[in-house]
Amino acid sequence: MAKILGGIGTSHVPAIGRAIARGEQQTPYWAPFFGGYPPAQRWLAKTRPDVAVVFYNDHGLNFFLDKMPTFAIGAAAEYRNADEGWGLSVAPPVAGDPELSWAIVEGVVARDFDPTTCQEMLIDHAVTVPLQLLWPDHAAPPVRIVPIAINTVQHPLPSARRCFALGQAVGAAIEAFPRDLDVVVIGTGGLSHQLDGERAGFLNAAFDRECLEKIVDEPEALTRYTNDELVELAGTQGIELLMWLAMRGALRKPVRTHQHYHAPVSNTGGALLVMDETPGAAALAA
Ligand code: DHB
Ligand code: FE
Repeated sequence: MAKILGGIGTSHVPAIGRAIARGEQQTPYWAPFFGGYPPAQRWLAKTRPDVAVVFYNDHGLNFFLDKMPTFAIGAAAEYRNADEGWGLSVAPPVAGDPELSWAIVEGVVARDFDPTTCQEMLIDHAVTVPLQLLWPDHAAPPVRIVPIAINTVQHPLPSARRCFALGQAVGAAIEAFPRDLDVVVIGTGGLSHQLDGERAGFLNAAFDRECLEKIVDEPEALTRYTNDELVELAGTQGIELLMWLAMRGALRKPVRTHQHYHAPVSNTGGALLVMDETPGAAALAA
């Protein structure tokens, strides 16, 4: 049976990808951010997942305003990246796991979700940057991926409660999958940031810390926020917390094994959280 090893939340700011390409991880600007990642990288090197299920938000590379699914599940054998205009070089393709993808699709539809299924899907910086951060020694990560896109572009957006419930349905589908697979669930984006409008540059470190605190043991406290409240508290793009809540929904009773926060990273509250669900994780963290 497939098993969920744990969950990881991480920011996905494109400038991180540029810093990696330029080898700037040790510069004064970047060191406090990249310094947070080795414990997460070590946890992945130790637990060696076969597949990463990645909740992310497409920023206009794969979907645009003309056609915008609320939830879209990748069911491809391979996912390609393409130039988004951020000046990043195009990342190598990442292998998919269509069998697990379809099991997740079946599982969430059986639980009354209506996702779009994508047998072709371009992945943007919200997938490629986290993979580069978490597996820095690999051009392409040593895992297959199942990308799940959540609409944060075209209103109306799904609620925090709905995204958390989607994560629960995805988690149940993974655990019901009959093949022996170790799975890590990743949520990318956030935390607080606003890139445009009158409040461009807005960031709320106090709220980010509250999210990091509550998401492990009391995620329901966060799912009670409306999207308008989240935008007010975390900025227009801070709504990317939705991906973290979907990731958390896929977990049962995780243990916080690593957390890092550094702000700003570009315009964003840069955050990383590792939640472990493997047996014995509690003892390790204690
Ligand atoms: C930035 C953050 C994002 O989440 C994103 O998708 C693009 C840019 C930023 O802070 O620059
Ligand atoms: Fe983003």
